[in-house]
Amino acid sequence: MPLRYQNKVVIVTGGSRGIGRGIVKAFVENGAKVVFCAIGAAAGEALETEFSTMGPGSCKFVECDVTKEDQLERLVAVTVELHGHIDCLVNNAGWHPPHKPTDETTAEEFRKLLNLNLVSYFLASKFALPYLRQRHGNIINVSSLVGTIGQKDAAPYVATKGAIISMTKAMAVDESKHNVRVNCISPGNVMTPLWEELAAQTADAAATVHAGENAQLMGRMGTEAECGLAALFLAADATFCTGIDLLLSGGAELNYGFKSQIPS
Ligand SMILES: NC(=O)c1ccc[n+]([C@@H]2O[C@H](COP(=O)([O-])OP(=O)(O)OC[C@H]3O[C@@H](n4cnc5c(N)ncnc54)[C@H](O)[C@@H]3O)[C@@H](O)[C@H]2O)c1
Repeated sequence: MPLRYQNKVVIVTGGSRGIGRGIVKAFVENGAKVVFCAIGAAAGEALETEFSTMGPGSCKFVECDVTKEDQLERLVAVTVELHGHIDCLVNNAGWHPPHKPTDETTAEEFRKLLNLNLVSYFLASKFALPYLRQRHGNIINVSSLVGTIGQKDAAPYVATKGAIISMTKAMAVDESKHNVRVNCISPGNVMTPLWEELAAQTADAAATVHAGENAQLMGRMGTEAECGLAALFLAADATFCTGIDLLLSGGAELNYGFKSQIPS
């Protein structure tokens, strides 16, 4: 198979595990030079070694907390120092807090999540755009299916993910004059360490995982690798797509289900 993103420079936030790791891998396997950040140097450095050895692309870990503006600016600067340009930015680092009702959620919790899940995507894009414009590059934002269909006891998370879809469209409009495409991916349930952690907080983790699998028409969760292929498609192949929201959901949004919570 020919390499689909050879020598292109890609930044991935939150690349040390889960969906981000799948995206880093897909790009390295297709010849890209990937710079990724995450929280936790040990996991990041281990993955840098593993994927760099794998090739044919390359992989560099930079420790960066995306909630810190100066660290995001540095992530972009280090990438340009290392490789001279940027072709693609993947905003992926984010968090789903444990489910709880609005009545028990504080303003401070909501503000912190907005900063992590949404403002970081905006700022990374802002710092990378001057370079992306030079290369007619693209941005890929990882949103979530729940940004469109909602989710129980998760109003702040759903709000951040819905806003990512809207921001993607607004930036696609603004950046079209620079030939920069801006798209997003909305995964449904994908088995990642985050999903496992959330399941472990429920009364019956195995039953929660089983229900998570059956939420899709396809009767299973998505994989990191499938998320990587979706990101690679948007970067390498989807050259006539901008402002789109690519659902990666196994059909979870289709058909009627037993949804009413009204007591009978
Ligand atoms: N797993 C799912 O089912 C699912 C579904 C829809 C959307 N998503 C979204 O996909 C993205 C990744 O989710 P995941 O399940 O792979 O999560 P995960 O927790 O397994 O991995 C998250 C990654 O982000 C990094 N990260 C977290 N906070 C960071 C910060 N402040 N600065 C830098 N890096 C940080 C972590 O180090 C890790 O590498 C998130 O935006 C999430 O909302 C996940």
